[in-house]
Amino acid sequence: MPFLRAEPSAAGLAAVERAVRETDLKARGAATQRCEQRLSALLDRPAAVLMVQSCTAALELSAMLLGVGPGDEVIMPSFGFASAANAFVLRGATPVFADIAPGTLNLDPAAVRAALTPQTRAILVVHYAGVAADMEALLRIAAEAGVPLVEDAAQGIGAAYRGRPLGTLGALGAISFDATKNLTAGSGGALIINDPVLAQDAETLRDYGTDRARFARGEVARYRWVLAGKNAAMNELAAAYLAPQLDDLQAITAGRRRTWDRYHAAFAGLERDGLAARPLVPAECASNAHIYALVLNSAAERTRVLAALREDGVEATFHYVPLHSAPAGEQFGRADGPLPQTTDLSARLLRLPLWNDMPDADVAHVIDAVEHRVREHATPGAP
Ligand SMILES: Cc1ncc(COP(=O)(O)O)c(C=O)c1O
Repeated sequence: MPFLRAEPSAAGLAAVERAVRETDLKARGAATQRCEQRLSALLDRPAAVLMVQSCTAALELSAMLLGVGPGDEVIMPSFGFASAANAFVLRGATPVFADIAPGTLNLDPAAVRAALTPQTRAILVVHYAGVAADMEALLRIAAEAGVPLVEDAAQGIGAAYRGRPLGTLGALGAISFDATKNLTAGSGGALIINDPVLAQDAETLRDYGTDRARFARGEVARYRWVLAGKNAAMNELAAAYLAPQLDDLQAITAGRRRTWDRYHAAFAGLERDGLAARPLVPAECASNAHIYALVLNSAAERTRVLAALREDGVEATFHYVPLHSAPAGEQFGRADGPLPQTTDLSARLLRLPLWNDMPDADVAHVIDAVEHRVREHATPGAP
C-alpha cells in the first residue's frame, strides 16, 4: 500500500476545465481570488492572504519582507524542511538550529531562548504534523526579544492553537498545498500576513516587484517596478483545482482524523507495553491529522520495522534528516549545541501511510502489520 494516494477531486477537475474554457488564465485571476477569499474566511480574516506558487515561495517572500540579510540569525528547528532554511540562507542570513521537545516534536521554547543572540532577527516555528508548537511561550520569547515570529504552517491547513488557525499567530505564516498536503493544488502555497504594515509590500514582492495589484484596483494610474521582487503568484489552473477543496476543508479534515484516531486507538497497546511512543496533541491544539508517526525505541529497530513493513506491502517512512547535520546545514547554518532530542527522535520516527478518505481495509492492514512488526522487532524499554 502506498504511503500516499491522491484521489482526484471531481469538483476540482470541473473547475479546471471551466477555468480553461471560460477565463484567460492570467495570474491573480478569478480562481486565485476565489482561493484568497475562501482561505481568508477560513483563517478568520488576517490582514492579507496571498496565493503563491508554493509554501517555499511564501517563506522566501517572508524573508524578503522582514529584510533579513547577511550577519542576521534566524532561530528555527533542525527537525524541519529545507525550505525555511533556504529562504533565509538565500538572503545571506544564518539559520541557527534549536532543539525540539519530545511528544509534539516542535521547537522547545527553552532551546529557543538559549539560542537568542544580539544578531537574532526572527524566529521561525514549524508546526509539525499539523500540531501547533507551544505558541504562547514562543510568542512571548519573540516579543521579549523584539523580533518577528514566522510560522512554517506548511502542514497546518485546518489546524488551530487555542482556537486560532495556524499561520495566523505570528507576523507571517506560510501554508503548503503541494501534492502531499491535506488540500492540494499539485504545487501551491499561501502567504498569510498578520502584520498589516507588511501587507502592501507582500503583494508587490509577489508581483514582480511591481504595484500591478494596486493598478488593477484603480489605486494608481500605471503600474511600475517599485521593489526587487519575484513572480510568485499561484498558477490559475492550480488555484481552480484547489478552490473547491477549500470549501470541503472540514469534511476532508474529518476524513483524515478518522484514520488518525483509528491508528491512535490501535497503538495504545504498543505504547502501554513500552514498545513505541504515540504522537502527543496538547489540549490547546486542534490537529488536522496531517501525519501519524510513532517513535520506536531505537534507530536499528526502525530500520528493521521499515524493511519488514515493506515486505508486508506497507510503505511507511522516516521524516527529516535533521537540517543541522545535512551538508547544506553544516555549510550555511549553526546548531545551537548538540540538539540531542532532534538527533535521537528523528532517527526513531516511523511515519505511517495516511491520506484523505483512506479506505477502512487499508487502515486495518497498516494497523495489523505495524502491530505485528513492531512487536516482532522491538526490545521493550521506555520510549
Ligand atoms: C514543514 C514544511 N515546510 C515547507 C514545505 C515546502 O512546501 P512547498 O512544497 O509547498 O514549497 C513543506 C513540504 O513540502 C513542509 O513540510
